[in-house]
Amino acid sequence: MKILVTGGAGFIGSNFIHYWLKKYLADSIVNLDALTYAGNLENLCDLENNQNYQFVKGDICDTGLVNEIVKDIDLIVHFAAESHVDRSIMDSGDFIRANVEGTRVLLDAAKNNGQIRFHHVSTDEVFGSLRPNDKPFNEKTAYDPRSPYSASKAGSDHLVRAYFHTHKLPITISNCSNNYGPCQFPEKVIPLFITNLLENKKVPVYGEGKNVRDWIYVDDHNAGVDAIIKKGKIGETYCLGGDSELTNLALTKKILELMDQGEDMIEYVADRPGHDLRYAMDYTKAKQELGWEPKVNFADGLLKTIAWYKHNKVWWQNIKNGKYLEYYKKNYSKR
Ligand code: NAD
Ligand code: DAU
Repeated sequence: MKILVTGGAGFIGSNFIHYWLKKYLADSIVNLDALTYAGNLENLCDLENNQNYQFVKGDICDTGLVNEIVKDIDLIVHFAAESHVDRSIMDSGDFIRANVEGTRVLLDAAKNNGQIRFHHVSTDEVFGSLRPNDKPFNEKTAYDPRSPYSASKAGSDHLVRAYFHTHKLPITISNCSNNYGPCQFPEKVIPLFITNLLENKKVPVYGEGKNVRDWIYVDDHNAGVDAIIKKGKIGETYCLGGDSELTNLALTKKILELMDQGEDMIEYVADRPGHDLRYAMDYTKAKQELGWEPKVNFADGLLKTIAWYKHNKVWWQNIKNGKYLEYYKKNYSKR
């Protein structure tokens, strides 16, 4: 198979490319990524000489480029998006453009170039916010997005389903909970807190830290995407979760404990506007139909993640001081 991965220089996409090329030796991957602030070619520098991997710097909204690239593609796995909720609160323009219009351009290219199989990577946030005793989200939960980010992802999910119903495009969708693991940009809570502590800085907990997230190790998410691509039913959506619900305060205390730091390193700061209280996923459908379930237990995954950030200081220091932008400009210009 020749696969187009969009957003493959980001956190989950780069982990997906490594996962896939290691598992399916006969497949090749084209990675289309605009290298926004979140895209980092250092995540993929070990693949520079891999014959089965090609990088194209470009925007998923560029209709001409996208139509050119998909000509000999068998499968599109669509990760590219603006992904950070706080940024969408500050300015939602890029989110609507990349997440809604970008998805529309890819869907049209898939439709107009031989009905290319299309997997869309989405989020649990499209379902809104749960109260403490509500049942977890599942595939039948009504959409109720509450941030500009989740609204733009909801829009993209609806478009993907509309192309299935209207144009018979062979699509699947996954909605997944909060990922963590290597190469996550240090604006997201886990890498931000780990790298702050490594720099001896305090960790900013929003509000009282009572909001709950369900954490899944990035390889488990990508194994779920793999299972959907191989065994999922066309036109269907699958919820993926990590079985690891934690309040932000409990998460923070675990990180502090594993990094031998005290609670004096917590700084309570103003809450995120419209902060969703709780996300949780019921992944029974994926388990029953695909035989998928998360394998990495949260304590082990968090330890591995802390170890990765400890051993890859240059990676995140280059991001925090802006140097990684120079790295990819220099390396990209060689191609
Ligand atoms: P990320 O921000 O780390 O990476 C996004 C990548 O997309 C970057 O490499 C960026 O350069 C690229 N990109 C952005 N706009 C683009 C455009 N217009 N054209 C081409 N490339 C563009 O994000 P992530 O955390 O890896 O998330 C990947 C996908 O998974 C997103 O669709 C996100 O909504 C979804 N998701 C994320 C999580 C999570 O916890 N991080 C959970 C569920 C679903
Ligand atoms: O649920 C899946 C979603 O998870 C993905 O779709 C998004 O792309 C991804 O960014 C993530 O969204 P969250 O908003 O849940 O992730 P974030 O890491 O930004 O925040 C996690 C929780 O931690 C949230 O309740 C806000 C809180 N937080 C976050 C930051 C950055 C803090 O308390 N302090 C912080 O500094």
